[in-house]
Amino acid sequence: MAQKLPEAYAWLSDDIKDVLFSADAIQQRVNELGAAISRDYAGRNPLLVGVLKGVVFFMADLLRAISVPVEVDFIAVSSYTPEARAQGIVKLAKDLETPLAGRHVLFVEDVIDTGLTLSYLLRNLRARQPASLEVCALFDKPAHRLINIPVKYKGFDLPDHFVVGYGLDYQERYRNLPFVGVLRAQALT
Ligand code: IMP
Ligand code: MG
Repeated sequence: MAQKLPEAYAWLSDDIKDVLFSADAIQQRVNELGAAISRDYAGRNPLLVGVLKGVVFFMADLLRAISVPVEVDFIAVSSYTPEARAQGIVKLAKDLETPLAGRHVLFVEDVIDTGLTLSYLLRNLRARQPASLEVCALFDKPAHRLINIPVKYKGFDLPDHFVVGYGLDYQERYRNLPFVGVLRAQALT
């Protein structure tokens, strides 16, 4: 349920309409996801893989909520052209440092929107023959999905709004907010 902005962030009220998920609500859900992952991956030394940069906040909290041995690695992507981007084709600007063959890989995403980027990246990772490959997403926007992606661990469903905070940006801004809020249309310039 939408909440008011915390007092310290009142200066943001022209940009952000409502707080959708408070820092506490996010932390509680992340702890639940970490507990489920710890149960399911006990004895398998999973490798968590994230795409820079939006996922780093979620990744840092999720890792600390996992109580079994775990490793982490990151990739970075950039777009070739807007047309390629629309098909989900991206360039790996930074590849993983860890070989995936035989590893239990958990792909960690901040938000799945159309699913195009994720589907492309999953194909790329699957070709490296991991022992298993699953997806954990903090936020899911099912209304926008163009490609079906099985999400094993999901934090929250999002309504059809552009949201920022807890790593999610609009033109590199707002990543630092500890909560997630809906960006007002007039801030989308
Ligand atoms: P898609 O699933 O290929 O359409 O793209 C997902 C990516 O789009 C995410 O990793 C985010 O970087 C970005 N994105 C999608 N929806 C939002 C949002 O509401 N706020 C901020 N970034 C978003
Ligand atoms: Mg972004």
